[in-house]
Amino acid sequence: MRPATVLASLQSLALALAAAVTIAEINGNKFLSPYSGQTITNLTGLVLAKSSSGFYIRSTTPDDDPATSEAIYVFSSTAGAALKVGDIVSLDGKVAEYRSSAAYLYLTEISSPKNVAVLSSGNPVVPLVIGKDTLPPPTVQYSSLDNGDVYGLPGGSSNVSAVNPVLQPAKYGLDFWESLSGELVTVRKPTVVTRPNSYRETWVVGDWPATGRNEHGGITMTDKDSNPETIFIGAPLDGTKNPTTSKMGDQLRDITGIVQNTFGYYYLLPLTALTTAANASATPPATSLVSGGSCKALTVGDYNVENLAPTSAHLTKVAAHIVDFLKTPDLVFLQEIQDNSGATDDGVVDANTTLSTLAAAIKTLSGVAYDFADVDPVSDQDGGEPGGNIRQAYLYRPEVLGLYKLNPGSGTEATAVVPGPALSLNPGRIDPASAAWTASRKPLAAAWLARGAKKPFFTVNVHWSSKGGSTSLQGDARPPVNGVVDRRLLQANVTGSFIAQILALDPAARVIAAGDFNEFAFVQPMKDFASVSGLVDLDVAAKIPLTERYTYIFDMNAQELDHMYVSPALAGSRATKYEHIHVNTWATASGAVSDHDPSVALFNVCGC
Ligand SMILES: *[C@@H]1O[C@H](CO)[C@@H](O)[C@H](O)[C@H]1NC(C)=O
Ligand SMILES: *[C@@H]1O[C@H](CO)[C@@H](O)[C@H](O)[C@H]1NC(C)=O
Ligand SMILES: *[C@@H]1O[C@H](CO)[C@@H](O)[C@H](O)[C@H]1NC(C)=O
Ligand SMILES: *[C@@H]1O[C@H](CO)[C@@H](O)[C@H](O)[C@H]1NC(C)=O
Ligand SMILES: *[C@@H]1O[C@H](CO)[C@@H](O)[C@H](O)[C@H]1NC(C)=O
Repeated sequence: MRPATVLASLQSLALALAAAVTIAEINGNKFLSPYSGQTITNLTGLVLAKSSSGFYIRSTTPDDDPATSEAIYVFSSTAGAALKVGDIVSLDGKVAEYRSSAAYLYLTEISSPKNVAVLSSGNPVVPLVIGKDTLPPPTVQYSSLDNGDVYGLPGGSSNVSAVNPVLQPAKYGLDFWESLSGELVTVRKPTVVTRPNSYRETWVVGDWPATGRNEHGGITMTDKDSNPETIFIGAPLDGTKNPTTSKMGDQLRDITGIVQNTFGYYYLLPLTALTTAANASATPPATSLVSGGSCKALTVGDYNVENLAPTSAHLTKVAAHIVDFLKTPDLVFLQEIQDNSGATDDGVVDANTTLSTLAAAIKTLSGVAYDFADVDPVSDQDGGEPGGNIRQAYLYRPEVLGLYKLNPGSGTEATAVVPGPALSLNPGRIDPASAAWTASRKPLAAAWLARGAKKPFFTVNVHWSSKGGSTSLQGDARPPVNGVVDRRLLQANVTGSFIAQILALDPAARVIAAGDFNEFAFVQPMKDFASVSGLVDLDVAAKIPLTERYTYIFDMNAQELDHMYVSPALAGSRATKYEHIHVNTWATASGAVSDHDPSVALFNVCGC
């Protein structure tokens, strides 16, 4: 044969081979299909489920490779209209890789189906029970491209879509869920781990082995383990609606549905709406820590109160939390206090109405009178909700403690550590001109003298830059991008260096740095902060179990963005205690007052 004829016959051989492919061959053992873009003829499968935009078929000629999904999505709002679940069909179509954002993983699907023929009907449709008919979901790692740590730096050093690694469903969570793409599966005995988002989508864990389960039934992120064994439950395929009231720890009835990557996550799209089998409590125990009313037993609270303005609907609920659950601590670190005009961008920076309205609400509920201390920021220079001028502030009980050598700084003045040690400006902001704080909250330092104390103790109230711009744990970028981490690294150094100066003058100084660090204890900025400052993570000092260290929920994970770090004198003291109060992470969507949980600690700050 002449060369051109050889080529033509090779092409027709390739077409003939393509015509014989199975669903497993189309999916392949990687994330992306080796047949992407090719037209397939006479693809045969059992109809597992239907949605308004397509249907799902399972191979009638499966292989025995757990990496290759035996099911696939056929995208068409019309081609499946006449089909019934249980039909075995054959069809032609084009293999496509679809994603709605460059940040997401791709979904392998069959598009433009044609010649859909029903070969038989009424065949049994049996879901795969996850962990029984499939491998158990991996519990620690997401992807072979994460170098062992989804929070390792730098994030985004590779993309799944570019590397297209071979799936290892026994080891990596993304690979596991990808290996079931399009499949009909059952999750037995699901536990809700986070309340639903505004689309009524909720994360669950089934009856398979899981790491990080907390006492309440949620699942907590720990060092190098961000819980890939969870699955996101999306909108029911039959058009019914999931409940809005589910919450961490609720038990659901078994869920059967289709695994599909869509909107950037591996979802289980249930056949019908979720039903609750047993409700968890939404009300955590109040703190057990009791103030002694003096330096010997001082209670310290910490609470990010989420954009609190004088007219906020949640103000009285925040006050009730401080009274009923935190038991009116002697000193409260607050974050996200807005100015007197709230989010109106009118140049107002004073927050004394916000703070006195909160103090008055607490007094009404409890009779406890608080004074407050803060430093007004320069308008519109500290980020957060535009016009809100959020800042950190302290509430304190003047009969128990007061500012030591009161000398308030302004928004642009840097307080300094002076011999004593003491603070040149009290309260004062730490290095407000540093580039570390551009469009972010400057830390609020203060020195205090508590009743009975011989020496002052020091506090630093922080609200570091948020993780905006992060990519998802299930996104294309590996390791995921930890948004704004470079800034938090700088902020760790500036905050830590200031505290180190106090401890350089007095290694026995009582120092408490607390607030919303917007970072996890096991990620580089917090590790740097501990080593630069010389402070100790209070969760470690107080031996809080790893799974109970959470103040926030994001995606599937209970996680800790809010921390207290304390000086060695406090970390080593037997008087020191710490409790996280889960008033918001346990709540339903409508019951949550803030997006963060508060915490309470107990210290001896006598300094002798
Ligand atoms: C299509 O596939 C089925 C089996 O799945 C087979 O019986 C049939 O002969 C095939 N048809 C064509 C035209 O290749
Ligand atoms: C990953 O994909 C994103 C989006 O397409 C792209 O901006 C980025 O440069 C890619 N990263 C690598 C390491 O290729
Ligand atoms: C769980 O609580 C919700 C409302 O919060 C209620 O509608 C539902 O009936 C409860 N379910 C069970 C099983 O108790
Ligand atoms: C807030 O401070 C201003 C200026 O010092 C003062 O005039 C006003 O009375 C204060 N308001 C409250 C509610 O304390
Ligand atoms: C950390 O801060 C110290 C002193 O404030 C400074 O000398 C050092 O360069 C900083 N390091 C980084 C990485 O910013």
